[in-house]
Amino acid sequence: MTNATTPNPRVALVTGTASGIGAAVVHQFRELGYQVLAVDFNEQAKEKADAEGAAFFKADLTDGDACKAAVAEAIRRFGRVDILVNNAGIQHVSPIEDFPEAKWRQIIDLMLTAPFLLTQAVWPWMRQNGWGRIINVASVHAQVASPGKSAYISAKHGMIGLTKTAALEGGSQGITANAICPAYVKTPLVENQIADQAKLHGMEEQEVIEQIMLKNAAVKRLIEPSEVSGLVAYLASDAAGAVTGSSWNIDLGWTAQ
Ligand SMILES: NC(=O)c1ccc[n+]([C@@H]2O[C@H](COP(=O)([O-])OP(=O)(O)OC[C@H]3O[C@@H](n4cnc5c(N)ncnc54)[C@H](O)[C@@H]3O)[C@@H](O)[C@H]2O)c1
Repeated sequence: MTNATTPNPRVALVTGTASGIGAAVVHQFRELGYQVLAVDFNEQAKEKADAEGAAFFKADLTDGDACKAAVAEAIRRFGRVDILVNNAGIQHVSPIEDFPEAKWRQIIDLMLTAPFLLTQAVWPWMRQNGWGRIINVASVHAQVASPGKSAYISAKHGMIGLTKTAALEGGSQGITANAICPAYVKTPLVENQIADQAKLHGMEEQEVIEQIMLKNAAVKRLIEPSEVSGLVAYLASDAAGAVTGSSWNIDLGWTAQ
């Protein structure tokens, strides 16, 4: 393995880097010496990127042109993209009956269409180098459903289909594609959900953690962002060249039952 003192020619584009899993991925990639373009619509992500020595590009990824511009920026700065981590995501909890159409469209645009457009835009550059890694941060909710999360669950299930298709198309070109499926990770996305779930189910917030979030877990704790970024780093490595089209659960044993 290389570290920050050993330059590594690989270039990674990571989305959703202001906090949580994306911030942990940027940190880990910089430790490995990769050049990183962090892409987010939140200005806080610029401060984080600066602190890590990563480049930053501000983009609202629900906008298709912004997705294409993000890849163009990586090429302008670094001349290549070797690793794409589709991580940006949001959640909205509401029963199907009341689910706002605008929120459905926003979630599908950000969490399914943007990963498709970013994959499409990096593809020629990866193909040209005969090497590429596409890593999609999906969710345990790409494998199973829970009430109140129709858009999120639909986007994440779709992301597995995108991952498998990219794996088949990339196999002969040195491009791998894999998905990671975490259960609840200690990030702002989950912290915001606790209150929403408490309202939806008429529960106290601590009950939401114990009775809903960890209900199906064999390991009764939330996951650390660094536990997810460690798997991202493996899938981005040369060592993972035979691994493609797969979904990697980090789900505390949730789907083992
Ligand atoms: N936290 C969990 O328990 C958990 C579990 C499974 C999967 N995931 C997935 O991991 C990914 C990261 O989630 P997290 O928990 O780190 O959340 P987070 O809220 O900490 O980070 C999400 C990031 O996405 C960015 N973002 C949101 N909307 C955007 C937009 N329109 N354009 C550009 N950037 C945008 C935010 O600014 C933020 O930096 C998401 O795809 C999420 O679905 C999270």
